Amino acid sequence: VGAEERELASVSRIAGTESSLMELSGPELASQFHHFHPELCDLDTRKAVLGRLRTECPVGRSDAFGGFWVITRHADQQRIFKTPEVFSSTVPIVPRLDGVDMLMSIPMGLDGDAHRAYRRVLSGAFTRDRVRALEPELRRYTRELAHKFASSTGAYDFRYDFAVKVPAFGFLRIMGLPSEDLDQLVQFNEWLMRHQLSEDEAVREQFQTVETPLFVSYVREHFEARRRPTWKRDDLLTRLVRAQVFGRDVTFEEVAAMVGSLIAAGLDTTTNQMSMHMEFFARNQERWHELIDHPERIPTAVEELLRCHGIVSPGRILMDDAEVGGQCLHTGDLLVMVTAGSSYDEEANRDAERIDFQREQIRHNTFGGGNHMCIGAALARFTLQVAYEELTRAVPRFRIAATTAPEHHVGVVMGVKALELEVVDDRLDRRKA
Ligand code: HEM
Repeated sequence: VGAEERELASVSRIAGTESSLMELSGPELASQFHHFHPELCDLDTRKAVLGRLRTECPVGRSDAFGGFWVITRHADQQRIFKTPEVFSSTVPIVPRLDGVDMLMSIPMGLDGDAHRAYRRVLSGAFTRDRVRALEPELRRYTRELAHKFASSTGAYDFRYDFAVKVPAFGFLRIMGLPSEDLDQLVQFNEWLMRHQLSEDEAVREQFQTVETPLFVSYVREHFEARRRPTWKRDDLLTRLVRAQVFGRDVTFEEVAAMVGSLIAAGLDTTTNQMSMHMEFFARNQERWHELIDHPERIPTAVEELLRCHGIVSPGRILMDDAEVGGQCLHTGDLLVMVTAGSSYDEEANRDAERIDFQREQIRHNTFGGGNHMCIGAALARFTLQVAYEELTRAVPRFRIAATTAPEHHVGVVMGVKALELEVVDDRLDRRKA
């Protein structure tokens, strides 16, 4: 059993649930449900369980992690996202464990004026124009990797050699961090999002005493370089380091918390999306050929695939009593919006089960909504678009590598742990036939 399976099992124990979700329905299903449940690693089970929750118990009470509400309907999630005065972001992650929010608190864990002040500092770096300015470099790099994949034989580690590297390239460029730091930052993302939730005290101790200080000194090095008057580059980190909030310079601690948030929210989310989309295409090659024949459909395909792959489950805490979907929630209650649960909500999108690359209006909560709506949405969309433009040109056919099966992970961000693909050479296939 690998370390990650042990961690999942231990989160399950903290949650106090180990029953099979597929055997349950209605409020009983909600009571046993939590977003770390190992059964959700299976995509068909995940879809079935969330569909059942949404139709039978859209605002359900889970007994896991000391109790929280599970919200799966699109409209309920939208309302919660857009009513921050009642549904506070001061608990953006459930379970609420010590230390989880320290390095990710800005801006995700803030409300009101404080949130607005930091968000203003961050959002300037992610405008559509700034993202578009990345295009020549990002496209060159993506094309190079697409050709490597196209000329590979046998199992190709698509997750790492494409879906990690391409989004990280754009992320590191915008941040102004060296590309050699990729593996170090990917590892820290794993610590922030997964290992620090471990029930194993030694693992949590390592997070606090080894990994966090290492990360803090990494940020300090970049912080100090950018505070020097001789520093001339303009990148996101420089803007953060030189920003003003509440009429004063930002502190080092504030910068470290913002960088932690960006790494937690921005480094593997696009990776997970891209891996899930490519797994879908590997299993549905006719949809890949649709994009090869109609490259103009790629932007809509990206949006439609984002809709069908909600991966984040943001948390909130109630500041007041409120009614949601006919249930009375009370001050201090925690809730989790499982965005994967609203992906196929018929009330948001007609014929929601159909993945339609020409759909006219696409409604989804994959990027959240309201004042905490994802800052990196334009970057993520553009990265996915460039990836499929380059991949459809370079790779006419591929499949899941015969020797492996894709592996998925669950949690606050759900995604893909392993995805090996294999290019299919039509000429070889014909010769064999
Ligand atoms: C397809 C990929 C992505 C998905 C699915 C995604 C999803 C989300 C969601 C659902 C939220 C809202 C959380 C909440 O309401 O509590 C969010 C917030 C955020 N995202 Fe993303 N994200 C993605 C990519 C990115 C990227 C590439 C970056 C940055 C480089 C980024 C940075 C952020 C930040 C900083 C926030 C917090 C915003 C705030 O609290 O005001 N995300 N994201």
